[in-house]
Amino acid sequence: MVNMKNILIYISIVLLLLAGIILGVNKNKKTIPKEDNTIISKMKKINYYNKMYKDRYLKYYNENKNLSLEDIITRVNLNLDKDYYTNTIKTPYQNKDYILVNKYIYMDSSYIPENLVNLDQSYSRSGMKLVKSAKNALEKMINTAREDGYTIRVMSSYRSYNYQLDLYNRYKNADGEEKADTYSARPGFSEHQTGLCIDVDDAEVNYTDFEKSTSFTWMQENAYKYGFILRYPEDKTNITGYTYESWHYRYVGKKIAKYIKKHNITFDEYYVRFIENKM
Ligand code: DAL
Ligand code: ZN
Repeated sequence: MVNMKNILIYISIVLLLLAGIILGVNKNKKTIPKEDNTIISKMKKINYYNKMYKDRYLKYYNENKNLSLEDIITRVNLNLDKDYYTNTIKTPYQNKDYILVNKYIYMDSSYIPENLVNLDQSYSRSGMKLVKSAKNALEKMINTAREDGYTIRVMSSYRSYNYQLDLYNRYKNADGEEKADTYSARPGFSEHQTGLCIDVDDAEVNYTDFEKSTSFTWMQENAYKYGFILRYPEDKTNITGYTYESWHYRYVGKKIAKYIKKHNITFDEYYVRFIENKM
């Protein structure tokens, strides 16, 4: 004989357990505010949106509401929501003219670019080298500048990992790590190891005063035509991570240089939008 009372007790226990499970599941479910959902669906339309960074985008958006969604995504993709020299990765683009190195992207300590060639001593010191494509473009630029009456000289070009190591350590010993990091790259993270950049001066001024020279104005107007960009501009220090360097120019090729000049963006931003995961 089935005991009705026991059956009712069993049914009640099962129902209570089910209700508990349902309530528990709902309690753990994260409710995304409606506004965040709207922002994310707008962000998804931007073609360098990375779904793995969704939470970081939202956090950065909430902390930087003055920025466009493009800028939010670009900066998070660049890791600018993380401390410098954290989340670092090795560049996948060694030996490409469009290689990006910054405080999050480095080269092997053993990396020496292919096709390094000597620079002519009419505009540089003995032993200076660049990657061939950069050197050819540089000579065209310097020759035209000369014809226009400007004397541009190269003060620094390719630097090996060990050279940068010594340089950085010297700066660190003199100024301390925090200060040195504002103006010098750590070894492996310097664009000079790519063999694609130069520090220049003008016969009349020291390179740190290059900005005051008429050659600087000439470079501002013409460098892009030869595929060079001012890599660490005055108004972009929060993106590049370095203080302003009026003397440091990077060869990226004519197409990229022209775009960067026209749109007044950094190479870091260009990289996220057009190079990363696309080349
Ligand atoms: N001064 C630049 C950032 C370098 O050290 O590569
Ligand atoms: Zn430099």
